[in-house]
Amino acid sequence: MLTSASSSGRGRKELKRAGSRLVASVESKSLVRKSSRWAAWLDVLQGVSGLVLLLFIWTHMIMVSSILISKDAMFVVSRMFEGVYVFDEPHPVLVSMVAVVIFCLLVIHGIIALRKAPSSYREYRQFITHANRFKHTDTNLWLLQVITGFILMFLATAHIYQMFSQPGNIGPYASADRIWTNTVWPLYLVLLFAVELHGGVGLYRWLLKWGWFGLANNRQQLKVAKSAITGFFLILGLLTLAAYIKLGIEHENHAGERYRPVSFMQQMENP
Ligand code: HEM
Repeated sequence: MLTSASSSGRGRKELKRAGSRLVASVESKSLVRKSSRWAAWLDVLQGVSGLVLLLFIWTHMIMVSSILISKDAMFVVSRMFEGVYVFDEPHPVLVSMVAVVIFCLLVIHGIIALRKAPSSYREYRQFITHANRFKHTDTNLWLLQVITGFILMFLATAHIYQMFSQPGNIGPYASADRIWTNTVWPLYLVLLFAVELHGGVGLYRWLLKWGWFGLANNRQQLKVAKSAITGFFLILGLLTLAAYIKLGIEHENHAGERYRPVSFMQQMENP
């Protein structure tokens, strides 16, 4: 009697333990499912915010490079930023608004990306050892991505703040004076390399990861395309920066004076 009672007690205990093991396993499985879904959504958000930033940067580089055509072309583009052709008068606040949106995207993109970066010296050492053993260019590209991303957090923030706080100070002479007389060119030089390398590598890794358009199978072609795009925007950026520096040197003695296009001067003389 006693033995059967104690054995049935033991049986109940074992049953209880097995039950709680089952619950724990179901819970941990759903936890894994939930966390991996979160990780995937964060990856999507990181990719989409990065893509929007990249498209912004490419458009921005082309617009800023209008100085290579002429001072008038840059003048027209800068007035366009201020909405002159829509509202008939300049509204620099539009530039400030774009700056806020771009800054928010940058913060979202940066915070999501931070979760994958080495967070201590030990992790960083482990990654370097792994990369040295692995000897794969894509692993090294990831490190380049982390370093350029870190640089961008500071330099892009400084530049965006400048655009946000002085939105009406954009134009052929205003920009050239800022770059040369106010010595902003070293910041732009580093920012240019950081943003173009970061954007090119980011797009390459994203296309490879999600395997869009069957591109994951053409790693070599994808690498060539990435280098060509990065090279194009680096050369365009360097030529643009050189043009602003040249104009800044020529305009140094009149720094602060704003550019007036010929058509505007003619209008003033013959109203
Ligand atoms: C609303 C946001 C932005 C506006 C309105 C803006 C506007 C401008 C303007 C007008 C210039 C010409 C120089 C000057 O006037 O100082 C310039 C240069 C530059 N900007 Fe931006 N920018 C913005 C955001 C960004 C961001 C987010 C990046 C990179 C992460 C960036 C990278 C650069 C670089 C590298 C240059 C130097 C140009 C070159 O070397 O060709 N800009 N920007």
